[in-house]
Amino acid sequence: MGVSGTGKTSLGKHLSQLTSWPFYDADDFHSEANKSKMKSGDALNDLDRLPWLNLLSLKIEEWSKQGETILACSALKEGYRKILSKHYNSICWVVLNGSFELIQSRLKNRKNHYFSPLLLKSQLDTLELPLYGIKININQAIEVLSADLLKKINTMSSSGIGIIGLGVMGQGIALNFVEKGIITSVYNRSVPGEDKIVSDFVNSNNALKNLKGFSDLAEFIKSLQQPRKIWLMIKSGFAVDSLIKELLPLLNKGDVIVDGGNSHYKDTQRRVLEAEKRKIHYVGCGVSGGEAGARYGASIMFGGSPQAYDILKPLLNNIAAIDRSKNPCQGNMGTDGAGHFVKMIHNGIEYAEMQLLAETFSILKNQMVYSEIASLFEEWNKGSLGNYLLQITAEIFKKKEGEHYLLDLILDSAQSKGTGAWSSSTALALGQVNTMMSSAVFARNISSLKTQRLSLSERKPIPGKSMPFNISKLKEAYRFARIINHIQGFNLIEAASKKYNWNYKPSEIARVWTQGCIIRSSLMEELKNSFTSENSLLKNSKLLDSLSKSEPDIADFIHYSIDQKIALDSYSSAYNYWIALCTENLPANLIQAQRDFFGAHTYQRVDKPLDQFFHTQW
Ligand code: 6PG
Repeated sequence: MGVSGTGKTSLGKHLSQLTSWPFYDADDFHSEANKSKMKSGDALNDLDRLPWLNLLSLKIEEWSKQGETILACSALKEGYRKILSKHYNSICWVVLNGSFELIQSRLKNRKNHYFSPLLLKSQLDTLELPLYGIKININQAIEVLSADLLKKINTMSSSGIGIIGLGVMGQGIALNFVEKGIITSVYNRSVPGEDKIVSDFVNSNNALKNLKGFSDLAEFIKSLQQPRKIWLMIKSGFAVDSLIKELLPLLNKGDVIVDGGNSHYKDTQRRVLEAEKRKIHYVGCGVSGGEAGARYGASIMFGGSPQAYDILKPLLNNIAAIDRSKNPCQGNMGTDGAGHFVKMIHNGIEYAEMQLLAETFSILKNQMVYSEIASLFEEWNKGSLGNYLLQITAEIFKKKEGEHYLLDLILDSAQSKGTGAWSSSTALALGQVNTMMSSAVFARNISSLKTQRLSLSERKPIPGKSMPFNISKLKEAYRFARIINHIQGFNLIEAASKKYNWNYKPSEIARVWTQGCIIRSSLMEELKNSFTSENSLLKNSKLLDSLSKSEPDIADFIHYSIDQKIALDSYSSAYNYWIALCTENLPANLIQAQRDFFGAHTYQRVDKPLDQFFHTQW
């Protein structure tokens, strides 16, 4: 909008070329009577304008259904603008302004136009400048004006992020963005049982002006700033693939799809390649911290192209937890599946950390009541063993339902969603060792065999009476096993990073894991610092000394558990790993001999160079 001569048509057409949004000139909708009145030098009055404005308001409504549309219209008075927006009230007004002399000189240079320069003064007198809208000074080249305008239009009216999937995590992330002042569009599929999710969510947060709800995917996409940033918070697997299928035709080159769920990193690698064919960035973002993390600050593991990271980084900074040095707990883990790989290993470590606490509990419950276990864990949590899972476990031991501790009412059959098992199978595929995570996965699997356990439980030998286990030894065993768990986890990421050419920065991974995530701990703070000098924890003499020191305690603990007939899957895995790793001669020579005996698989010899292989007729 603006008086004649401000360049509405030229700017509108230029912008239309840049964006492919259709362009219309309001002057083309004047009646013949109005046109000849203006040609003869007479100004139009309000009555002349009324049918024209009404016609335009209907046209605007019609155009709005097709998407973004540019209309050049003087719209000089507030009353005119009210009529124009009668049927569609989300018009983004762009107010063109310039000096009288500049506009007049432009009008004089116009050829074949019915507008008389004499009318300029009357138009300027009529003009009621709005307080709202984007103000553009026309005293610049059209290219500069268009670029500037486009930037402003994008930031003013469209959403900076779009969230798909309004489960607890999606809702939390959406509110986290909104709270940081980012205009956020949300979408959820409208299927039976989920058809009110969007409206309920938007209505219950209607005080938040930056939140826009959609149940139509195309409309949702249209509401986003370009390049569009679309964050998927949906169930991993088939749902992600089918949504991408729906999304791709609606997106443009340079748009970014972020999968914030727990997808398998190989699925992410495949999806990156598919999206790349359309020049769309596909990002796999590991997000840890559960419901509270999503809402108030998560630990975010980005995986994708450097260009996508540049686009997303400011957004990630907004929703990430903050580390001790006041930096956001988000980091670039590498290209394609790196973010989801690191998240998968995070979960693998999480499984083993949880299992260690469960095994500790299985010993402690024979010598302490729950309130004592809670106090003990709270005590440990204050020192170098402090970690989030330990803290919440102490809370769990205090929770009562009526007369009973809630824990006693929960069935001892653990479930899982798959990331622990993926970590284990990945370690096997990469030829790596992750006995801690795998033992934790298997322990959950054994726990779920409840019926068999019930029928076989009578066969368990009754343990002999024994003294309670020494708590300070138990504490050292816990310290020992946790260190081994982290060593195995980081080694696995290092191996995958080498294979897939990800940029392995263990210090950065540990930093991102210091806050917000489920495995945040004092140990993680230590590791973050120790990784700055060494990439491998097995070269960290402080940790190695600590393992050597605690080794007799974990050995005693395992002896004790055997006497007590209590299975310690993960503690035993930690111990065996360390003992094997510290053993110069393992019996693997016998394995090699057996392989060669039955399958002529060959072997290397201790007395010959390692690049030579031998076979014997046994
Ligand atoms: C997190 C968690 C989370 C994970 C749950 C459930 O970092 O916030 O790791 O992503 O999905 O812990 O995992 P399981 O159901 O497999 O135990």
